[in-house]
Amino acid sequence: MAEVAEVMLWEEDRAMPPDELRSWIPTADGLFCMLTDRVDRQLLEAAPRLRVISQMAVGVDNIDLAACRALRIPVGHTPDVLTETTADTAFALLAASVRRIVEGVDYVRAGRWQRWEPDLLLGGDLHGTTIGIVGLGRIGQAVARRAAGFGMKILYTARAERPPAAVLGAEFRSLPGLLAESDHVILTVALTPDTHHLIDRRALAQMRPSATLVNVSRGAIIDQAALAEALGAGVIAAAALDVTDPEPIDPDDPLLRMERCIVIPHLGSASLGTRRAMAELAVANLLAGLAGRPLPHQAG
Ligand code: DGY
Repeated sequence: MAEVAEVMLWEEDRAMPPDELRSWIPTADGLFCMLTDRVDRQLLEAAPRLRVISQMAVGVDNIDLAACRALRIPVGHTPDVLTETTADTAFALLAASVRRIVEGVDYVRAGRWQRWEPDLLLGGDLHGTTIGIVGLGRIGQAVARRAAGFGMKILYTARAERPPAAVLGAEFRSLPGLLAESDHVILTVALTPDTHHLIDRRALAQMRPSATLVNVSRGAIIDQAALAEALGAGVIAAAALDVTDPEPIDPDDPLLRMERCIVIPHLGSASLGTRRAMAELAVANLLAGLAGRPLPHQAG
């Protein structure tokens, strides 16, 4: 970027405070941002020169896309390059939760391992079970490919039913149907006003008492207070969350005290190779926008 523009770089080891961003934006021709930056109408109105926004993430729920469209500012994002890594993370969370890996590690570290016991930390299985994927986009399909390798029956729900061949024989269900039939529910759907708190108290009550819920999308897809209640009351068995609402999660959140809940700090795409590829794609988007060319990957 420095070869074509003067780069103002936020170098502090914390997300850029909104006031700082507002003070930088009036002179900016391009904005390279993260999912921790709120790009709302107010910010855009303070940016008379802005010609392109490039976010180093696929999800752009932190950006007011309608306002960007109205101002004819293209928004770049980073799909495809993070699909497989994020699906790996979803499966790692699912396997860790179902096979109780984190509890096992804690047990050994606490010096509690005395002997082999026939009923120590018994969990469920992946093979031969039913997985329900909410949102069959790129990441949802990559999760489905992994599930097929584990011999799972695959259900999905999405805005529209897909031709069966496109998704490894995955069967379409309504959301309530999928929740009722699945042993494991994986959330890969984008956060929009329609999907905000999609998994609320009512949805959780439709799941099986033995079910595991995995979220690699955005925290606000789940009503987190309802999830804590559901786990506490045994409405569902377990949850594994890569994302929370807010981020970071409050250290006093009851979810962090629950044995059958795993929370990791938004690591879905966090492999070295994938983060490098995301950075390169985000730079390509920014440079294309500055040059007035179509972006390699434009959101919305
Ligand atoms: C994204 O790209 O939206 C992911 O959440 C980042 O890991």
